[in-house]
Amino acid sequence: MRLSAEEERMLAGKEGPGIQRAMELLVAVGEAYDAEVMIGVAFAHLLGTGMAHYPMGQFGVWSRELEEESVEGAKQFKVPTTINPTFLDLRLAERLGYPQPYFDEVKASMAHGEKLYGRLGVIPAFTCSPSLIHPLRKGEHIGAAESSVVQFYNTVFGAMGNRESGPTALASALTGRTPFHGMHLPENRYGQILVELEKGIDPREFTNSDYSAFSYYVGGLVVDKIPVFAGLPSNMTMLQLKYLCISLAVSGGLPMIHVLGVTPESPTLEAAFGGRKPVSRITVTRKNIADTYKELCAAKGDKVQLVVFGCPHASLPEIQDIARLLQGKRIHKDVTLIVCASRPLVFLAKEMGLVDIIEKAGGLVVPDMCTACPFLRRQVPKGFKVEPVATDSTKSAHYLKYAGVPTWFGSTQKCVDAAIAGKWEAD
Ligand code: F3S
Repeated sequence: MRLSAEEERMLAGKEGPGIQRAMELLVAVGEAYDAEVMIGVAFAHLLGTGMAHYPMGQFGVWSRELEEESVEGAKQFKVPTTINPTFLDLRLAERLGYPQPYFDEVKASMAHGEKLYGRLGVIPAFTCSPSLIHPLRKGEHIGAAESSVVQFYNTVFGAMGNRESGPTALASALTGRTPFHGMHLPENRYGQILVELEKGIDPREFTNSDYSAFSYYVGGLVVDKIPVFAGLPSNMTMLQLKYLCISLAVSGGLPMIHVLGVTPESPTLEAAFGGRKPVSRITVTRKNIADTYKELCAAKGDKVQLVVFGCPHASLPEIQDIARLLQGKRIHKDVTLIVCASRPLVFLAKEMGLVDIIEKAGGLVVPDMCTACPFLRRQVPKGFKVEPVATDSTKSAHYLKYAGVPTWFGSTQKCVDAAIAGKWEAD
């Protein structure tokens, strides 16, 4: 790779061993992908600290050592940097009665990560919806981990980034650089497959979860080819776009999609496909969407024990919606309901009285934590059962289902109804 003088300095260790390791990693990745140069990034998003290693044990120790070595000698992240949720809200852990040693380990690990990255100036929102607090402009390059974050910035903001790993995203935060390849190049961002709804389906009647089920189905078909969604309302809200985007990062492995008339690079079909013809066409039927709901409902019987919202982290309109549905109601005594959102939005939701309404009904609004990961079976302390789970997120439903956790997937309204009744109503 051809490096600038500043990049050579970092690679030579002039800014300390952490930044040197970061440059070594970025150069190795760049060479693997035949990138000729590095490009400056305007923003980075990190994975939650130690996330994959709970319960911690020896993996946790190695993970912490690796994190410390990676930032050794660094004084400040070079670009605005946000970070994904950590593992578990401690109030929730207490409420669920997680055993003390587990609780202590999680607490220590979270404090370690917060201190380590806090020293470098991370924006401590601990969220997988950073676009709600850090918008970007079309054409800005990013070094971001977390598939749904990357996809949303590429699709809705026209920012440019690959699906980075935890270590490469951290390397970008430390150096302000990323190898110039993949989704950083305009020619790799064009759509390949045209996606439409069958005649007679009006997407303006879709709930958020309908949007998600629709795109989850499409993700399973397109796998790694970029789809162009045509025929959706050009005035789609950010929230609808969020639900449309979530699924494509899980059922497909895509860093971006195009929504005709919405994605900044897709004012016309010609622009979305870069003047080429689509390689194929998908027409989605009502039955395809209905079957996707069934596919994601992997629980049996009708019991519900945990209801989770905020995957990716909830926006204020979503919290408002849940509060409205719960106002004056009482969540079933055997059900735990949680809404996960970023720290700043939980703060605002408190100011607005929304947290009060949800908590009066028996639910919890929690900052910092991932909605799905703490409930994957391998991460729950032995002897605990927090299932079946109900969710309005295809991403949570997908992860939980593949981790063998009985899960219900449905609209926000249906999940709230299930929390109140303590059971899932069949359609
Ligand atoms: Fe966020 Fe966890 Fe879902 S990181 S996107 S809440 S799986």
